[in-house]
Amino acid sequence: MNILLTGGAGYIGSHTAVVLMQEGHEVIIFDNFSNSKRSVLNRLEKITGKLIVCIDGDIRNRSLVKQTLQYYKIDAVLHFAGLKAVGESSEDPLAYYDNNVAGTISLLMAMKSCSVKILIFSSSATVYGVPHYLPIDEKHPTDPESPYGKTKLQIEQILSDLAKSDSSWRIFALRYFNPVGAHESGLIGEDPNGTPNNLMPYISQVAYGILDKLKIYGNDYDTPDGTGVRDYIHVMDLAEGHLAALDYVGNHNEAFSVMNLGTGNGCSVLELVNLYEYEASKKIPYEISARRTGDIAACYANPEMAFLKMGWKSKKTLREMCFDSWRWASTSLQKHKD
Ligand SMILES: NC(=O)c1ccc[n+]([C@@H]2O[C@H](COP(=O)([O-])OP(=O)(O)OC[C@H]3O[C@@H](n4cnc5c(N)ncnc54)[C@H](O)[C@@H]3O)[C@@H](O)[C@H]2O)c1
Repeated sequence: MNILLTGGAGYIGSHTAVVLMQEGHEVIIFDNFSNSKRSVLNRLEKITGKLIVCIDGDIRNRSLVKQTLQYYKIDAVLHFAGLKAVGESSEDPLAYYDNNVAGTISLLMAMKSCSVKILIFSSSATVYGVPHYLPIDEKHPTDPESPYGKTKLQIEQILSDLAKSDSSWRIFALRYFNPVGAHESGLIGEDPNGTPNNLMPYISQVAYGILDKLKIYGNDYDTPDGTGVRDYIHVMDLAEGHLAALDYVGNHNEAFSVMNLGTGNGCSVLELVNLYEYEASKKIPYEISARRTGDIAACYANPEMAFLKMGWKSKKTLREMCFDSWRWASTSLQKHKD
């Protein structure tokens, strides 16, 4: 298949590009590089041994998206492009609604006019909001708290309405839990600009000596060790999940589905720190500070539907997630020190 990856130069998109290319698909990346670096393209070429086609553009540029869909005879779109920082989305909600929601509408209009009707969308577990029960299955009520989470839910609703209006669409919204880790080559991984928002890249920067210590927000939650519990999933497992989703939409007559991609296992902040220390042979100094508003005690997936429907389940362990994160960090972080 010829597959367009919006946001394909970013963290999850670049790992998915590797899996798709290794499976024999033609991959075309479409990215405005607002949160990624062009150097990832060379690294992808090194890993796959293939030339990477990349269009430098914004998904809100409808005519450029249309031209790309037509020129490359695109069969399916994997839509990763989006802004993703929860805190920032409360400070600048318009940027999030414009980029994520308006950007997706523009992309969908371009797809519709070119009759490209297969779409895999990067949604998020944040659509669930505060858990009413655990593990969280797809029937759990949705009530996102941040503007970021609301953009994901609004997009899902738009996709559902679109599929109801025309049953020839094949749309999959994948609700990711907490992607971590990196490709085994150590050539690509999560490379946030500035101070990381997510736990694993923060731990990596502490391990590498760029940041002094990790701040753990709250150790008085109702969890086994008092720190927050999340469902960390290896980014390569997530990438495989996209391959399974593509396969599924190609062989079933469902116009719209949503699905969790997680491991089903909760891991606390302290557990993750201990595992990382072991895998990296580095001490991770930390301090406990007050809970952050909006943080929840525990959140992990019920991933059964992905297994029942697509035969997909995560394979990689937390130790592999920590080891691969450290391998990537120790080859890529030198520039931050310079
Ligand atoms: N990483 C996570 O923890 C996580 C969890 C759940 C869902 N998601 C979602 O998965 C998707 C990918 O996440 P990621 O971690 O790879 O993020 P990322 O920031 O690394 O990648 C997103 C890519 O999209 C590009 N982009 C952003 N806006 C664009 C636009 N208007 N036009 C073209 N390109 C644009 C960025 O330059 C970047 O390369 C996002 O939609 C995100 O919301 C991520």
